[in-house]
Amino acid sequence: MDVGGEREQGAEALPAKCASQLNASGLAETLLYYSEVPMNPHSKLEFFARNMRSSDLDLVVKNEAEAYEHPWSKRIFIDCLRAGYQCWVLANKQQIIAHGVISVATGESHLLTLCVSPEFQRQGFARKLVRILLDRACKLEASVCFLEVRSSNAGAIALYQSMGFMQVGERKNYYPDHRRGGEDALILSRQLPLR
Ligand SMILES: CC(C)(COP(=O)(O)OP(=O)(O)OC[C@H]1O[C@@H](n2cnc3c(N)ncnc32)[C@H](O)[C@@H]1OP(=O)(O)O)[C@@H](O)C(=O)NCCC(=O)NCCS
Repeated sequence: MDVGGEREQGAEALPAKCASQLNASGLAETLLYYSEVPMNPHSKLEFFARNMRSSDLDLVVKNEAEAYEHPWSKRIFIDCLRAGYQCWVLANKQQIIAHGVISVATGESHLLTLCVSPEFQRQGFARKLVRILLDRACKLEASVCFLEVRSSNAGAIALYQSMGFMQVGERKNYYPDHRRGGEDALILSRQLPLR
């Protein structure tokens, strides 16, 4: 879900009204840990879901660079935190293994980025994190979630489809790609809550 054709465009500031609603709810500050622990019952490692902090960003950006062909910059994550988006990580005291960002406004949510460190992929962490992000969106009164995904990203598309997302649109040549002359974005959506 590289946003806006270039991932650099993914962090437009929330409308002031929405940002103040988020602040007034106190959610970003109070929901530091999610109760679903351990995240992966088959893993000896225990990872917690918690809000992303500024101090996480070097590790978050490192994971992005390792997992994504088109990673977001630290600047974009700083803007997401400032905008009051729901920014979450799966982490323990030593490691951050996954992160995701969802924006919520006027009853809609937009999953803006999702990333699992390569060495932790295919262990169910993305599915767990998406569930948490959609749960946060629901609590902020979103009734639908949208996302954009590169048409070549078969793994991510399989993940979202397995979670009930359906294609509702397509943007031709949405992502700049100098080798292939642009890549299409699929627009996926699902109603909330996730059951
Ligand atoms: C896409 C991504 C987030 C998936 O993370 P993950 O933790 O490996 O995903 P999960 O283990 O939770 O997978 C859940 C399901 O998604 C599907 N899936 C995930 N990765 C897949 C892959 N590479 N190929 C095919 N299906 C895949 C499978 O159905 C999987 O279930 P299964 O393992 O029981 O078959 C991860 O590969 C990633 O960070 N990729 C780079 C960044 C990216 O593309 N983000 C999405 C942008 S829209």
